[in-house]
Amino acid sequence: MPEEFVVTPYQVTGEIDYDLLIQKFGTKKIDDGLLKRLGKYGPLHHMLRRGIFYSHRDLEWILNEYDKGHGFSLYTGRGPSGPIHLGHLMPWVFCKYLQDTFKAKLWFQLTDDEKFMFYDHLTLEETRKWGYDNALDIIALGFDPKLTNIFLDTEYIKTMYPTAIKAAKKINFSTIRAVFGFDNSNNIGSIFFTSIQTVPCFLESMEQKKKVACLIPCGIDQDPHFRITRDIAEGLGYYKPALIHAKLMPSLSGGEKMSTSSKADTTVFTTDDKKTVKKKIGNAFTGGRVSVEEQKKLGGNPDICSVHAYNTYFFEPDDEKLAKLYSDCRAGRIMCGECKQLLFEKVWKFLEEHQRRREKAEDVVEDFFVRD
Ligand code: TRP
Repeated sequence: MPEEFVVTPYQVTGEIDYDLLIQKFGTKKIDDGLLKRLGKYGPLHHMLRRGIFYSHRDLEWILNEYDKGHGFSLYTGRGPSGPIHLGHLMPWVFCKYLQDTFKAKLWFQLTDDEKFMFYDHLTLEETRKWGYDNALDIIALGFDPKLTNIFLDTEYIKTMYPTAIKAAKKINFSTIRAVFGFDNSNNIGSIFFTSIQTVPCFLESMEQKKKVACLIPCGIDQDPHFRITRDIAEGLGYYKPALIHAKLMPSLSGGEKMSTSSKADTTVFTTDDKKTVKKKIGNAFTGGRVSVEEQKKLGGNPDICSVHAYNTYFFEPDDEKLAKLYSDCRAGRIMCGECKQLLFEKVWKFLEEHQRRREKAEDVVEDFFVRD
């Protein structure tokens, strides 16, 4: 019997069966036909080629709209509860690719309200502070300031509130309870919150005063919010948002989702220094054997290796190089130490540049933020 797994925006546990999740959530797999179609707008991103962004809702529809000359907006977000690590950046790198490819306007929501309401250990001042900190990482990825609006919920609430309550009026408590697994002990802010996460799907329509389609790139754990949004969107006079879902990037300790608090020694934060990054990658869980001798004879197992996962998700976009690493591992031609060193070099090259851009981002924050 496979282990039970749970995926909601507020709980991710167990070994996730991603194909089964498609069935459970009722989404569609991104199949070869759709990949071929996506390849016509520009070179296919490695996260598409490798099935990391692997599931969708209404992606064909939004491409049809685009082909007819009706542009769409992009929407994604971050719950600012702490520092940014590489697993957070992964879907945002893809979001940047979508912005570049479709020249789309991006609405980036920082849910300082959500993280305040859901975490006992955080004050509102702290989640706001993390919001501004996290925005630097977002900006550092190179989003176009003319096409990107970043906002904190608590600073954009006047714009959002009328639409939030129109959404809230159409959502029952019984739906929220069933979708998120809440009970009577949840505070009433958390019950309301999904209506706040709904609004940015419509911000471009609100601004342009006409219906504009919206595409949400996100981790598949966020889909439950938008299932609710899609049920009520047309009743509010908007299009249903389309979605493109990513698998969750495994942590360097081999688990499914990086957790900022418990796995600090294997979680690479964007502000870590060179020595720290080297140590963390050195500690990574691999598919290696008990001894070098045995590994040379029997080969390693890249399918369970977090270093290989990092290359696949993020750091080795070249398919041929990735395939060579895979087969060299299987054949016992490359040992874990060397493989970790190669990954470290790529990660550090990326981070060094990211940290430089992150510092420069402080000067341009105001080009990105929108407020009431
Ligand atoms: N709720 C998300 C989180 O906890 C943040 C978020 C808000 C989001 N809007 C989004 C994520 C849209 C993806 C897409 O991280």
